Amino acid sequence: MSKLKWWQTAVFYQIYPRSFADGNHDGIGDFKGMIEKLDYLSSLGIDAIWLSPHLPSPNWDCGYDVSDYMDVAPEYGTMQDFKTFLAESHKRGIRLILDLVLNHTSDEHRWFLESKSSRDNPKADWYVWVDTPPNNWQSCFDGDAWTYVPDRDQYYYHYFMRQQPDLNWHNPEVKQAMWDAVRFWLDLGVDGYRLDALGTIFEDPNLTPHNVPMNLAELRRASELAKTPSEKRKIERYWHDMFQYQWGGPGLHDLMKELRAILDEYDGDRMLVGEDDNIDYMGNGNDELQLVFNFPLMRTERITPSHIRLNQKNRLTQLGKLPVPGWPCNTLGNHDSSRIHTRYGDKQHDAALARLHAALVLTLKGTPFLYNGEEIGMDDYIITDPTKLRDTMATWYYNSLVKDLNVNPEEAALRAGEMSRDKNRTPMHWANHPNAGFSPAEVQTWLPVNPDYARGINVRDEEHNPASLLNYYKLLLKMRKQTPALIEGEYIPLNNRSSDYFAFLRKTDQQIVLVVLNFSESSVELDFSRLKEIQGRNLRVLFSSAERLLTTKSPRGLTISPFEVFVAEVQASK
Ligand code: GLC
Repeated sequence: MSKLKWWQTAVFYQIYPRSFADGNHDGIGDFKGMIEKLDYLSSLGIDAIWLSPHLPSPNWDCGYDVSDYMDVAPEYGTMQDFKTFLAESHKRGIRLILDLVLNHTSDEHRWFLESKSSRDNPKADWYVWVDTPPNNWQSCFDGDAWTYVPDRDQYYYHYFMRQQPDLNWHNPEVKQAMWDAVRFWLDLGVDGYRLDALGTIFEDPNLTPHNVPMNLAELRRASELAKTPSEKRKIERYWHDMFQYQWGGPGLHDLMKELRAILDEYDGDRMLVGEDDNIDYMGNGNDELQLVFNFPLMRTERITPSHIRLNQKNRLTQLGKLPVPGWPCNTLGNHDSSRIHTRYGDKQHDAALARLHAALVLTLKGTPFLYNGEEIGMDDYIITDPTKLRDTMATWYYNSLVKDLNVNPEEAALRAGEMSRDKNRTPMHWANHPNAGFSPAEVQTWLPVNPDYARGINVRDEEHNPASLLNYYKLLLKMRKQTPALIEGEYIPLNNRSSDYFAFLRKTDQQIVLVVLNFSESSVELDFSRLKEIQGRNLRVLFSSAERLLTTKSPRGLTISPFEVFVAEVQASK
């Protein structure tokens, strides 16, 4: 194919290591399990893995509180296991990128233990220390953003849990130490990084207080209670206003340029993808991050044709304006958000909608990111027993609801379970066996297993069912790989108005592909009479979720079935 880089043509698959595959049968996923499942990933047809943190951590934030940047969490295995995983992935042509948490460390990291021990130790200035809280900033996970340490008689700043102190990135020694860690894994051969929460690295230097008339717990509660559109808008504004001074402070572009320069010292096009909406972090298009997630696509209650059209228009226009045009990156799910099957379903047509959503991410222009379990249609599983929650921000919220906001414990438990990210992190379903084949029956898994694995939502059953979602993903991934226009072609929207279906072309000099996604329960009639790209040409069907003839000769139009995914190559008619 073309001159595209590997990360432009690849389909990424996110592995959340705790929940992916339990190789040593202790109820927690690990490298042994991941290595055993690499053949599964090959057969699925993905090209690259984004691995959520695999580093030692006390797990206050499920691995995103790192206590050593150059080691492997013992519950996941050894450094040798990591190396084997990397080598075995590469052997199968699968690239591997790691998660890089720059904003904060764990409060058990030796850097922080030293920093907090006195005001004059060598690392005294590695974190953000103040004598008294200078403002009313909130942590987005657990209330006040400033936490007191008696040994220093000072407070430190944390955007996330109090167990995740923010590093002071103005200190060049911090940078050096972190860049050493970055090089450590690059030297081992990893292909890049997903940058965690990069917007939070620098704050407003004036420390401007927010002006929202409530604290974090109250705002969360108000969000749950907001009913009318105007109440919801107000709450949305409050969320923005509460944290606006804690994001995107000056300095980030220079930092990203420095990091990019390190990656560029290595061969093999090592890459960075950023957890942020803002394509400004792609710099001039060639000197900061290669990719930034298109989160606005997933920030909606329903995926509708008009939402997608508008999203694509805005996103592709913005990317096109960079001095070196940026490459898009689409996703609908990850370890922080409700599962696609649950979140965008309508309780009636969930199976059909899940297929449309998969097709959307795999046919839009840009690099797709899938989240483990999505390919078998895993659902959210809400944990209503607060003692079983592992997402500590949900535990904190439960306690705030009961103790500070006088909500009755039963309702509080439900609310905490709903907002907890545990619901979308439960163990992967490998088979219709006790514990979904993730761990042996007698083992207590780290999070409860969703019992719906027994209803056919598991890898083994779906592999044997030609009509399953898993086999549908495989077919789509294969078709994408064999269809250059779907990977590198321009995106040309076709219907600007219909609220029922979304249609577009992907076009290169050699190939034109038509994609139609019918989001409605009625069939739709397409009229090609005014479409010069299609008029008078044959359509060769590449993929359809309905029964179809393989080739249609110069059709004047086409009837698309309810919820159909239709992909066809537009051929010269002879
Ligand atoms: C990112 C991660 C999330 C984590 C947070 C703090 O948003 O995706 O899981 O809790 O950063 O590191």
